[in-house]
Amino acid sequence: MTSHTRRRILRGAALAAAGSVVGGYGLGHYATAARAATPGTAAGGGDPFPFLEGAFAPVTEELTEFGLQVTGRIPRDLDGRYLRTGPNALGVEDPRAHHWMLGDGMVHGVRLRDGRAEWYRNRWVRSSQVARKLGEPYPGEAPPDDFACNTHVIPYKGRILALQESGPLPYELDGELNTVRPHDFRSTLEGAFTAHTKYDAVADELHAVAYYPTWDHVRHLMIDRTGRVARTTRIPVADAPMMHDFALTEKYVVIVDLPITFDLAAAEAGALVPYVWNPGHPMRVGVMPRTGGVTRWFKIDPVYYSHTLNAYDQGDTVVMELTTMPAPFHAAGRGNGGPSATGTPVLDRWTIDLRAGRVRSTRIDDLPQEFPRVNESLVSRRHRFAYAASAAEMWRAYETVDGVPPDDKFTNCLVKHDMLRSSRQVHRFPDGAAAGEPVFVPRRGARDEDDGYLLSYVHDPDRGASDLVILSAQDFTGRPLARVHLPGRVPLGFHGSWVPDA
Ligand SMILES: [Fe+2]
Repeated sequence: MTSHTRRRILRGAALAAAGSVVGGYGLGHYATAARAATPGTAAGGGDPFPFLEGAFAPVTEELTEFGLQVTGRIPRDLDGRYLRTGPNALGVEDPRAHHWMLGDGMVHGVRLRDGRAEWYRNRWVRSSQVARKLGEPYPGEAPPDDFACNTHVIPYKGRILALQESGPLPYELDGELNTVRPHDFRSTLEGAFTAHTKYDAVADELHAVAYYPTWDHVRHLMIDRTGRVARTTRIPVADAPMMHDFALTEKYVVIVDLPITFDLAAAEAGALVPYVWNPGHPMRVGVMPRTGGVTRWFKIDPVYYSHTLNAYDQGDTVVMELTTMPAPFHAAGRGNGGPSATGTPVLDRWTIDLRAGRVRSTRIDDLPQEFPRVNESLVSRRHRFAYAASAAEMWRAYETVDGVPPDDKFTNCLVKHDMLRSSRQVHRFPDGAAAGEPVFVPRRGARDEDDGYLLSYVHDPDRGASDLVILSAQDFTGRPLARVHLPGRVPLGFHGSWVPDA
C-alpha cells in the first residue's frame, strides 16, 4: 500500500459514519461506493448534491453577536452554553469530491445567563487543514489523522471536546469556541477515539468504543475520574466494521457488529468513505462486562443501527433502545455526496436475553425520528422519558437522488416519549423548520426525570435564520418558553450538549 493510499484510506475511514439521518436507496457494492466518491462521476437526475444545498448548505462565515433578541423568556436557571456541531465544508471546489460526513466541523454555540442570551458564536474547529484554508498558522505539529472533528461536542472535566470517530484525536475548545489543542486524555489515548461516548455520572467514568480500518478488533476504553484511559479491552472483530455508537449499562458494554465494513478496493478506487454494506458479514450484538472480559455474541437480523437512546440492565436481560433503519444502508450513496438507505429511521427496543441467548426486537415508534436523547444523568440506567427530532428536509435530500418518496408522516418536529405509558407527544414546527437534535437540561433543583428544558436549533424559514428553541419538557406541546433569534442559519448537522457553568 502506498503512503498516499494509506493516507487516503485513513482519512476516509476516519470520517466515515458521522452517523446521522439518511435516506434513499443506494446500490451498495464496492464499485458503487467508489464511484459515488470519485471525482468526475456525477449522479444522474435531479440535484446530485443535496447535502450541499438548502438546509444542509454550509455557512461561509464565522459570526459573533452579543445580546440576542428573544421571543418569550429564557429560564434564569439556564446558566451555561448550548453547543451543537456538524459538518460545514470550507471551500468546496468540486462537489463531486465531497461527502457530507467529511465536512469540516463547525460548532454553533449560545451563551445563556441570568435570563439573557449573551452571545452566539459559530466556529470551525481548527485542524491543520482548516487553519491552512483560513490562512492561519497551526501551532505545532498536527497529530496523525488530523481532522476538524464534526460529529459531537461534549463537556468533560471542565473542558469542551469536539469528537470524531475512527482516527482523529478530539480537539479541545475554549468557552468561546476557539480551538485550543488536540486532546489525548493526558497522553493515555493510543489511536482512535469515538464521537459517541457514554458518561456514567454515578461512577464518574467516560466510556468509548473505538474502531479503525486497519485494526482486527475494536477497543472499549474506560476513562476514569482522573481523566486518563484506565482500561482498554480489545474485542476481536472480522472485516473492520464501522461502529458509530454503542451502549452502556451498569454492568455491560453493548456493541453492534454491523455488516458495514471497510473495503480496501473502494478505498483504492478513491472512495471518500470506503465502507460498504457487506452481506457476507453476519450482524450480531456483543455484550461484554463493563470491567472487561469475554464478549458474548448474539445473532440479529440485518438492520442499520444508527444511534443509542439508552440502555439498562433488567434481571437477566439487557434492554437497549435505539434508532434503526431498514437494511441495507450505504455510508456513501449514489453520487449524492452523502449516505443513502431504504427507509426512515425509527425507534426500536432490543431486549437481549442473556439466559436464552436471544435478542428480541420491538418497535417503540414508527414515526421517523433521529438523534434520540435522555436525561444525561440516566445514561446506563433505566429511563422513562426520551426525546428525538424529525426534520423533513433531511429526507427530501435523499429523495432527489434515489426517487424514494418522503414519508408523509415525516415532518418537522421534536418528539417526547413516555416509555412507562408507551405514549409520545409531538411538538410541531412549520415547513422548512429543520429541527435539530434536542438536548435535555434539568431545571435547577429538579426531582422529576423530565423536570427541565429541551434545547434545539430550529430553522425559522420566515426569518431565513435559525433560533435556539427552549421548550418546557413537562409542557412539551405548549408554546416554547423562549426562541433565541440567531443572526444566521445553523445547517442540519449532528450532535451537541449543554455545557453548564461550573
Ligand atoms: Fe451520531
